[in-house]
Amino acid sequence: MPLQNVPGLRWRPVLISLFVCGLIFELVKAAQEQKPGRTVKQNKPKITASKSSTKAKASAPTQTLLTQVLSRGKFRKVGDTLTVQAGSVLEMRCRGKPVQWGVPPYLEEDDDGRLKIVQHERYGVLTLINSTGADTGQYTCYPMYCEDTDCRREYNKAVKVFVFFADPQELFVPTINYYEVIQLRTNWPTVLPCQVTSPEAKVTLHREFPPVEVAVDGSEISFDVRKGFTIHRPRPHHAGELFCVASLGSLRQSSTKYMLIYVNYPVAPPAPVIQASSTSLSVGGNLQISCTVMGERDVVVEFDWEYPGQKIGRPLYTRESVTTVSQGSGQQQLSQSVLLVDEVRDVDQGTYTCTAGNLQGTKSASTTVQVVSKDKTKRP
Ligand SMILES: *[C@@H]1O[C@H](CO)[C@@H](O)[C@H](O)[C@H]1NC(C)=O
Repeated sequence: MPLQNVPGLRWRPVLISLFVCGLIFELVKAAQEQKPGRTVKQNKPKITASKSSTKAKASAPTQTLLTQVLSRGKFRKVGDTLTVQAGSVLEMRCRGKPVQWGVPPYLEEDDDGRLKIVQHERYGVLTLINSTGADTGQYTCYPMYCEDTDCRREYNKAVKVFVFFADPQELFVPTINYYEVIQLRTNWPTVLPCQVTSPEAKVTLHREFPPVEVAVDGSEISFDVRKGFTIHRPRPHHAGELFCVASLGSLRQSSTKYMLIYVNYPVAPPAPVIQASSTSLSVGGNLQISCTVMGERDVVVEFDWEYPGQKIGRPLYTRESVTTVSQGSGQQQLSQSVLLVDEVRDVDQGTYTCTAGNLQGTKSASTTVQVVSKDKTKRP
């Protein structure tokens, strides 16, 4: 029976189209009615643009402008940083139609109704009430570039301001953990994120055992009031338990403790060299295949083997060793894995592959071995 003859199915496409049309109509109407005071959803990458915002780009060499609203009708252009007393209201205006806002991750995740974002015709407004020291962080205004209904952030026109919410009771931005484990990798800049709530606080770095203040010279270790301490080229002696101390007026407080674990991080993946004790041997003989890596000291190298005997379930026998060798002016580490095949059989003929890996990656090397049957070798 043809489908058209079923009354229910016949009307369904028409009804769906009507519903979709209605939905589009509602969406367009909503976008055009975007009056001042309307809250714009932040997370949506697409914003339905109204007629006026499409026109805006033509008339546009507008420079992004971020201001702090002090009281009704009073504005102050903000610089790189801004300090607000914790507990008070932060209100910022950013020119653009529309704009999007970037806020510290903690505020984004924890929507407790204190943050309000509103898009007016020519500017966006961010309001944060009942602020606390934990709101300290980077706030960004991204002007949006719109083409019809497609809007994207203009990252090169973004204006950033780091806002401190100065709390006379809490000099450090509170953290969830009392203890934080941080991996220090060779020559990999590492941050101890002890963030202060006030740029006025004097911050020092300390070691727990032995209890000493760590020298901060600005090159090996530096301090940024918006970030914390950075260890630029970690070495083994930086490891241990560290914490920051902030003092302001008569108040002196300690930060979360940072357990710094040093990991010797190699500069490159290992370069294995493979060698068989014999490339051609007779059935019943013993075969040893060595895989050698010469590299930096204290770098763990792991070996993995592929061998013809795997097919018949021949177990893997290896002997691994690590030795330190002097080479030129420095010392190097020789890591080796030797694959042992006793009483070789025909099935042991083929390709042997060794894969060596460290934290930077893996590399393989292969060699082939020929197994000659006994009767052949007996031939004159
Ligand atoms: C802000 O603080 C006031 C006074 O403590 C409280 O009544 C109000 O509910 C808070 N508002 C929000 C959104 O947390």
